[in-house]
Amino acid sequence: MSDKTFKLHNLDGSTISELPLVEGSMGPPAVDVRKIFADQGVFTYDPGFGATVSCSSDITFINGQEGVLLYRGYPIEQLAEKSNYMEVCYLLLNGELPNPTELEGFVDSITNHTMFNESLLRFYNGFHHDAHPMAMLSGVVGCLSAFYPGVDMHNAHDQMVFAHRIIAKIPSMAAACYKHSLGQPFVYPQNHLDYSSNLLNMFFSVPAEPYEVDPIAAEAMDLLFILHADHEQNCSTSTVRLAGSSGTNPYAAIAAGISALWGPSHGGANEAVLSMLAEIGSVENIDKYVAKAKDKNDPFRLMGFGHRVYKNFDPRATIIRKMCYKVLENLGQVDTPLFDLALKLEEVALKDEYFIKRGLYPNVDFYSGIIYKALGIPTSMFTVMFAIARTVGWVANWTEMMNAPSRRIGRPRQVYTGAVKRDYVGIDKR
Ligand code: SDX
Repeated sequence: MSDKTFKLHNLDGSTISELPLVEGSMGPPAVDVRKIFADQGVFTYDPGFGATVSCSSDITFINGQEGVLLYRGYPIEQLAEKSNYMEVCYLLLNGELPNPTELEGFVDSITNHTMFNESLLRFYNGFHHDAHPMAMLSGVVGCLSAFYPGVDMHNAHDQMVFAHRIIAKIPSMAAACYKHSLGQPFVYPQNHLDYSSNLLNMFFSVPAEPYEVDPIAAEAMDLLFILHADHEQNCSTSTVRLAGSSGTNPYAAIAAGISALWGPSHGGANEAVLSMLAEIGSVENIDKYVAKAKDKNDPFRLMGFGHRVYKNFDPRATIIRKMCYKVLENLGQVDTPLFDLALKLEEVALKDEYFIKRGLYPNVDFYSGIIYKALGIPTSMFTVMFAIARTVGWVANWTEMMNAPSRRIGRPRQVYTGAVKRDYVGIDKR
């Protein structure tokens, strides 16, 4: 809490109320309105929560005007260049970078929890082969709450076991979704492989022949996982917090986060970007589609553009765009019409007053799909890749909420706009 206050005129024009300010270590302060209804008889109104703080958090900091993203204080650019996903997971969960012994112990624990209960595989067979992988993933992750009931949410050991289990198992469960969609047998995790290599092996190897993971693909996957690991109180993280605030099984809260991520306005945008680029088809059509995106009467939007917080640039998009060149070149995909189309679309949009005025720039989803496609990941699995990476962010936020000094169930209010009180009318009188 701060000793500064925020002056507010009362409804009846009487003397100003002074509301306390809550200040953090970085970023804007927040007006503490917790007592505003009790003291003033009014609510605060903020559909979409664009100006609403839901919690205090030590995990991730974003500055939307300056394109800053910090995980536990470390700039995303430095982590992308110097770290790896397992180290970033440890950092997000524990608040500090691990020493070699700590990292070895963490990786060992994750590696040895990658298998899931064999009977869970039967759930996959209940899905039709063309079920969307996100529908499958949210379903089977929710099922984990049946396999791991009775998590003591305030017990540090139980919290750690939950964290390690879900981070370790989510790639295996995601790969099983992909294999089910192909009608291929599930490939078990291999403990001699690192996290990203293991995922690629479970995706692309088949029992009938040996498979060699391309180290360049594994490196690109690891970097994409770092960039997608956490992002403050975004829609899916807020969903995990809200669901978790009721005290539900944490695996069920993660399943709720997966469902929220699936939407095209959120993590589902990476899949929607590829569909949009395919619909645009060629550079000649860019102007037509940019005009559609600006037309209020046209539901078409430039997927992968715009962000609730970033109004200049998404630092992750900048990193991924640079990565595209390297990955496509290393994978020998020199002829990349999709990447060329995306670059041209970005160039045209960023010169257009509509996008400039509204601060609409490419976000993390605009280029990520181009790399996933180059790695051989099918479009339908793009949001699943996002869910794998974001699981650590959801878990870190759930744990922080569980350990907060005052945890209350999330229960927003409303402004009621329906019918005023009226008496029932018998059917014979209607
Ligand atoms: C992610 O929150 C996070 O941190 C999310 C995320 C994470 O890591 O967790 O960063 C990941 O979800 C990235 C966002 C992926 N979604 C998309 O790319 C979908 C396309 N983007 C839009 O749907 C939109 O930009 C949102 C959903 C991302 C943001 O929506 P806001 O903040 O509610 O903004 P808005 O809808 O109020 O738009 C403001 C204006 C409107 O025009 P006006 O009413 O001012 O005339 O900008 C326009 C919108 O019509 N606009 C767009 C647009 N995005 C906003 N116009 C055309 N194309 C777009 N993409």
